[in-house]
Amino acid sequence: MKYGYFDDNNKEYVITTPETPLPWINYLGSNEFFGLFSNTCGGYDFYKDAKLLRLTRYRYNNSPYDSNGRYYYINDGSDIWNVGWQPTQTPLDSYECHHGMGYSKIISSKNGIESTLLAFVPVHDNCEINQITLKNATDSNKEINFFSYIEFCLWNAEDDSTNFQRNFSTGEVEIEGSTIYHKTEYRERRNHFSFYHLNTEIDGFDTDRATFQGFYHGPANPDAVKAGHCSNSVAHGWSPIGSHHKKISLAPGESISLIFILGYCENPVEKKFIAPNVINKEPAHVIINKYGTDADVAAAYNELKEYWNGLLSVYTLTSDNEKLNRSVNIWNQYQCMVTFNMSRSASYFESGMGRGMGFRDSSQDLLGFVHLIPSRARERILDIANTQFPDGSAYHQYQPLTKTGNLGVGSGFNDDPLWLIAGTCAYIRETGDYSILEEMCEFDTGRAGVPAAPLFEHLRRSFKYNMDHKGPHKLPLIGRADWNDCLNLNCFSETPGESFQTTGPSEGPVAESVFIAGMYVKYGKEFRDLCQHIADIKSQSASELGNLPEVSELNRIIGVLDSEIEAMTEAVETAGWDGKWFVRAYDAYSNPIGSHTCEEGQIFIEPQGMCIMGGIGIENGKAETALASVKERLDSKYGIMLNQPAYTRYHVELGEISSYPPGYKENAGIFCHNNPWIACAEAAVGHGDRAYEIYTKTNPVFLEEIGEIHRTEPYAYCQMVAGADAPTFGEGKNSWLTGTAAWTFATVSQNILGIKPTYDGLSVDPCIPSTLGEYSVTRKYRGKTYNIHVSNPNHVEHGVKSISINGNTLPEGTLLLNPSADVMDVEVILG
Ligand code: GLC
Ligand code: GLC
Repeated sequence: MKYGYFDDNNKEYVITTPETPLPWINYLGSNEFFGLFSNTCGGYDFYKDAKLLRLTRYRYNNSPYDSNGRYYYINDGSDIWNVGWQPTQTPLDSYECHHGMGYSKIISSKNGIESTLLAFVPVHDNCEINQITLKNATDSNKEINFFSYIEFCLWNAEDDSTNFQRNFSTGEVEIEGSTIYHKTEYRERRNHFSFYHLNTEIDGFDTDRATFQGFYHGPANPDAVKAGHCSNSVAHGWSPIGSHHKKISLAPGESISLIFILGYCENPVEKKFIAPNVINKEPAHVIINKYGTDADVAAAYNELKEYWNGLLSVYTLTSDNEKLNRSVNIWNQYQCMVTFNMSRSASYFESGMGRGMGFRDSSQDLLGFVHLIPSRARERILDIANTQFPDGSAYHQYQPLTKTGNLGVGSGFNDDPLWLIAGTCAYIRETGDYSILEEMCEFDTGRAGVPAAPLFEHLRRSFKYNMDHKGPHKLPLIGRADWNDCLNLNCFSETPGESFQTTGPSEGPVAESVFIAGMYVKYGKEFRDLCQHIADIKSQSASELGNLPEVSELNRIIGVLDSEIEAMTEAVETAGWDGKWFVRAYDAYSNPIGSHTCEEGQIFIEPQGMCIMGGIGIENGKAETALASVKERLDSKYGIMLNQPAYTRYHVELGEISSYPPGYKENAGIFCHNNPWIACAEAAVGHGDRAYEIYTKTNPVFLEEIGEIHRTEPYAYCQMVAGADAPTFGEGKNSWLTGTAAWTFATVSQNILGIKPTYDGLSVDPCIPSTLGEYSVTRKYRGKTYNIHVSNPNHVEHGVKSISINGNTLPEGTLLLNPSADVMDVEVILG
């Protein structure tokens, strides 16, 4: 069942009922100020960090669901409703929510009053704009009372939802004209405040929640709205809110526009106050003046649209497959930006209080984002590297505001270091900017007491960490866990509630990961190629890359990498091979996991994908055998499950994976993130049909019609779909913040459609479904534009027969496109 439709021309998803199976959300904000915006106006805003600088309150896991947002009420004398349906849930006469690129629009009507709410965060300012137009579509006059409502969060979201003995006494506001200022803790150490403004004179306001709602009422039935007026309450402690009241009379056919701004401002310490405890409101006035009129708002909205049109013009596909186009051109790339900005911090499933930026997560997010804004990817790579420890290991997470590692979860996830190599190599393949490798990065953000070193040295230490931490089978030690956070082989937890991620030694002496072994080979090769390229550059010009090792040292490193890659490949092909697939790991007793000899959990998806992506088994047939086993044992209607058979009981030696009921999350769920690994692996052995089949199974755009089963947004990937063992098989959870976005975009754009950035330039090597007869991709790359047309007259899955640029045929076997002009027309014939 569908709950809306795609409008590809406007790059929107249009939701046609407020009662979607779950709230379907969008993200507002491109740089530092963000808002989550559901199809019924739910969500919250924050500046940079969803935990530390949250502007508005949201109640996770509330009942009814999706509790709190920016709410606009209308009382027309006979009915009370919200333009976005929540929280009164008064039935509307018409309703549509358009989620677009960085904006959302809710168009609704009731009792002849038509309303349009446009919400977005301008590209350059730290505020959310809500422009509301109301039109009287009847032939009689309308007198209405209009109310806004938001609830302020006292900045630190975690403290705000736990430390009530203090927080009920600290709340403070100021009111100036139509602007409500929230200034809790501004009197002491905070130099920031927020404001909620309306661009016209108001008839009243409330800032005290209990006064606005009535102590035993809530946002669904607030006293002020029922009474038709506010009380001009000034919050002292308790729960500060912002509500404006505006009386509106509309003649038949008449419209009015209201512009609300929720903004974030900072002041220098010496300029905080204009009088004792009175905020210097200067920075707020600047924003307020900038967005005072409809024309101002229209200009900012156009700028946002242009911003997105520009970003999405870097990679565009034209094919006769509408769903593929829509996913590749719009929604998958859009989600890549969101995951880049949010990591795993703020969604409707991630509370924004726990995880900050993940070392591995953010490194992987780069893979799908780097082509959009390389300069921001560069900055992120350096931030991540700055948190690394001197021995090459990594904090598992860091806070985006402070950019320092998170002591709570610490380190010891032994896949983490290698992801830094993955992200950096992707950046250089995209940009050719080797200078990033010379940037000086701290260790543990300067807390380690050792001097900063060039990024290149951080990458070297990343690799060296795994090189120095191997177990009895010469495979990498797993530490607390590898990519699968729930395979905790050194944890042995028997105490309820203990964290699986931090209990037990950070590294036992023997538990090993075949998955990390695959990464070691894959990213070892990428790092090796990088070293080779640096050596080549330096050999040609001695003055280049002066901060990086000399050519002789680079050659020595290359030698070490070669022998390490060879030895690890050998270890995987022996101890890591189970006969028909790759083993998953060895536990703390050195027993295999993910082997036919196991009682449960005999085969896992991760090592099949990663080892083959690393090139292991491609030449000797093991890759094909492993992929056939994946198809036979792990595949399902809704995607490839993580492991089979599911664990049916708790295994203390395995940890969290066996804590989940069968079919959920890491215990045999369809973990969307690693499905593209198998698609990539299939592409590596030339199976275009199968790669594409895998691609479509978890792709939300292809699941739009089964919304009642899938439940999460049809325009965003979710982390996990319940596997075949689960009673709710096919149900998605944890939408938006998942490495799936980046991995899928990388896979479909580079491995399936085959347009791949390399250190030397762009290469074309498609591996597509045989049914795809032709397609075109426009790719902007290193300042040039490539218009690539691929035709597949013989309906093959793989194999370039000929390729030409601007009419000149390239020598046979040459896939690199050497830029000669600014715009290149490339003809590729498969066969
Ligand atoms: C979550 C985490 C990610 C991890 C994955 C598998 O998505 O964000 O870091 O790799 O789960 O456990
Ligand atoms: C839980 C989740 C996993 C996530 C981890 C993060 O283990 O199952 O997906 O990566 O928490 O801490």
